[in-house]
Amino acid sequence: MSEIKTITIIRPDDWHLHVRDGAMLEAVVPSTARQFGRAIIMPNLVPPVTTVDAAVSYRNRILKAVPQGVAFEPLMTAYLTETLDPDELRRGFEAGVFAAVKLYPAGATTNSESGVTDLSIVHAVFEAMQEMGMPLLVHGEVTDPSIDIFDREAVFIERVMIPLLADFPGLKVVFEHVTTSDAVDFVESSGHRIGATITAHHLMINRNALFQGGIRPHMYCLPVAKREKHRLALRRAATSGSEKFFLGTDSAPHPVHAKETACGCAGIFTAPTAIELYAQVFDEEDAMDRLEAFSSQNGPAFYGVAENSDTLSLQRVDQKVPEMMTFADGENIHPFMGGQTIGWSVVSS
Ligand code: NCD
Ligand code: ZN
Ligand code: ZN
Repeated sequence: MSEIKTITIIRPDDWHLHVRDGAMLEAVVPSTARQFGRAIIMPNLVPPVTTVDAAVSYRNRILKAVPQGVAFEPLMTAYLTETLDPDELRRGFEAGVFAAVKLYPAGATTNSESGVTDLSIVHAVFEAMQEMGMPLLVHGEVTDPSIDIFDREAVFIERVMIPLLADFPGLKVVFEHVTTSDAVDFVESSGHRIGATITAHHLMINRNALFQGGIRPHMYCLPVAKREKHRLALRRAATSGSEKFFLGTDSAPHPVHAKETACGCAGIFTAPTAIELYAQVFDEEDAMDRLEAFSSQNGPAFYGVAENSDTLSLQRVDQKVPEMMTFADGENIHPFMGGQTIGWSVVSS
């Protein structure tokens, strides 16, 4: 750990975020808006966000939940279903409503039932995206039940990612929430059109965290955390200075009752202290000088947008992560590291 006590960086963005809807949206949006200038909003609502109108009204609901005086821009995405209309996509992209398209292999993760079973069905969409320069954001896991859950990301590279990139040599792709050294190696060895997001929790936990003294539903997300050697590969990638890797929390809140049950939902809720968790990791890796590139510069460069024009300051001051957040309809959410202390805090402006 370095001796640095405070750091000021260009305001970061979160390139992968779930804010849900309704009372939960109202409870979680302020946490993200406090830290980040923009966030890529995942479209996996029920029903999924597939039209320009649905995205505009979802964006308005998010903006209504942003605290007064806080500048925060939600960047909307379209959920790639097998019937998504390429013309609707084009209209949304050209109007500045859709920033990207999200691909969920059907059945891979939370609310992915409307996803794609066979990529050949959506080739016309990929062609339109390639032509427009619109990024495809990929949940990179195969759904073949015969593949071990810890191998589903690595197998996805061979079975899906490599053929997809070969078929669409101009398509920009973000390999979302990478969890393995295989994915890191693949992204590093691919051209500039391939980027990847890395979550704070995958930098902090390995798969032992799911079973520490008993089953730990709040440590369960998809892709599931892997072995320690993979966590170390993610830490090396995030702190390497490579412009291919950028911040995406995949903060994915679920009510406590949906996590603590016989069949608990996948998703870890990191939004309340997201940038502080990353700061702690970069500090532990003696890489505070690279936090800004990962958090605030590499993402905008990949998406081809300007960096934020204001800054965020962090200080080496302990803070206790809240044990529980309660929202308007009485539901509770348990944040990642809830009840524990982390070593960095945002300096409130
Ligand atoms: C996400 C969710 O809850 O929406 N869950 C998760 O475990 N990451 C979906 C996703 O990003 O795969
Ligand atoms: Zn995902
Ligand atoms: Zn996600």
